[in-house]
Amino acid sequence: MLKLRISELRKKNNMTQQELGDYLSVSYQTVSKWETGVVLPDVTMLPGLSRCFGVSVDALLGLVPLPQDYRPSDSGRKEYWADRVNYLKRTRKTMWNQDYLAFLVREVFRIDHPVTLLDCGCGYGAMGLLLLPLLPEGSKYVGVDFSGEMLCAARELFAAEGVAAEFIHADIFDWDGRKNSGMLQAGASDAVVYNGMQRAPQDMGQYADNMDTQKQCTKGQHIPGQYDMVISQAVLRHVDNGERFLEKMITFTKPGGLVVSMECNREFEADGLYVDGMDYASLCTCPGLKKLWQTELSKQNRDYSIAMKIPHYMRRAGLRDIGCRMNDRVNFLCPEQENYDGRLNAAVYADHWSDEKTEDELEKDISYFVNHGMSRGEAEDYCAQQNGIVRYLKEHRGEAAFTKVGGIMVSYGWKV
Ligand SMILES: C[S@@+](CC[C@H](N)C(=O)[O-])C[C@H]1O[C@@H](n2cnc3c(N)ncnc32)[C@H](O)[C@@H]1O
Repeated sequence: MLKLRISELRKKNNMTQQELGDYLSVSYQTVSKWETGVVLPDVTMLPGLSRCFGVSVDALLGLVPLPQDYRPSDSGRKEYWADRVNYLKRTRKTMWNQDYLAFLVREVFRIDHPVTLLDCGCGYGAMGLLLLPLLPEGSKYVGVDFSGEMLCAARELFAAEGVAAEFIHADIFDWDGRKNSGMLQAGASDAVVYNGMQRAPQDMGQYADNMDTQKQCTKGQHIPGQYDMVISQAVLRHVDNGERFLEKMITFTKPGGLVVSMECNREFEADGLYVDGMDYASLCTCPGLKKLWQTELSKQNRDYSIAMKIPHYMRRAGLRDIGCRMNDRVNFLCPEQENYDGRLNAAVYADHWSDEKTEDELEKDISYFVNHGMSRGEAEDYCAQQNGIVRYLKEHRGEAAFTKVGGIMVSYGWKV
């Protein structure tokens, strides 16, 4: 539904309904009716309204965002991840083929002696659980994350699986790489180390109390890298300065050590879906997404295509023998498979295909997409496409089948 931004713009301009009415030679009651959507202004009023507020008619109609209106994506903030542990758990189930990871460890990274592995933005430790069994015996896993909730889940899971690990509560951008220091401003705590085999705390309050805190911040002091292998998965695409995050990872790495970044290229991912019975051509056209990515890059330096650039950032940072591979996982799902329902549910949940959106939810999404650079038409088309998938999967429950490519690129290089 079209709703003009008259009320919002009038208030921004500190005008009363009467003043706006006087400017346009209409009554304040008429302005009030426009604002509540009871009636729409006559088309001849649009130039006057746009002149009065100093915005384009498109902006007045909500078809493009107001220039100062940009609402940054918040997936680079710790609050965003606080309630997304379950979301990560579901999505991680279908991300890797274990045989391909084994191939990377043995044939590509050629790891033949025990390593100390640091996982930056470890979440609940998914990569640690996948990699540890493949690494030579005696290898150690250390996860760092700025989300206390993620670390809580990690600690519980590792304890339940009987896998030893250490977790550090710190913001990578502030952390100096030492286990007992950091600058996380969470209550009284700084970087926090705890062992994965310890009993999990009952709640976050207790978690904070259990933190072994030390406050020896050493800003500016150079700490030599201490880790043989430093990895991150699905973090650089979310943060506002992925290149700087990567540079920090390199500082944590010993000379001769390996740096690995695993990031999805959104363009591959957006193109990588075929639902059997649906029109592939319409599924892989992603109206407006490029504009959204470009807007986020220019407005907040958040780069959804960062996966393509990482080997180049590694080169600029002086790593040697840089290489880049694709995660070979393709999720093919069909009803004959074991655990079909579980896998379908996981995919549906991961891609937010569980329910068709209500009109209000759709409007919220459209407004977000428009705010991030799409035209209203593109945002509506994109939402309609996603809703189409939801509807199709619902109608074909029990028989739906699809092929889905994750588009995760694995970039790696060694520190000199
Ligand atoms: C998409 S999740 C990926 C988690 C994990 N690497 C995985 O693949 O399952 C991104 C994670 O990065 C963490 N994160 C983002 N920015 C961070 C920062 N500056 N310092 C520490 N952790 C960060 C978030 O809390 C979240 O757990």
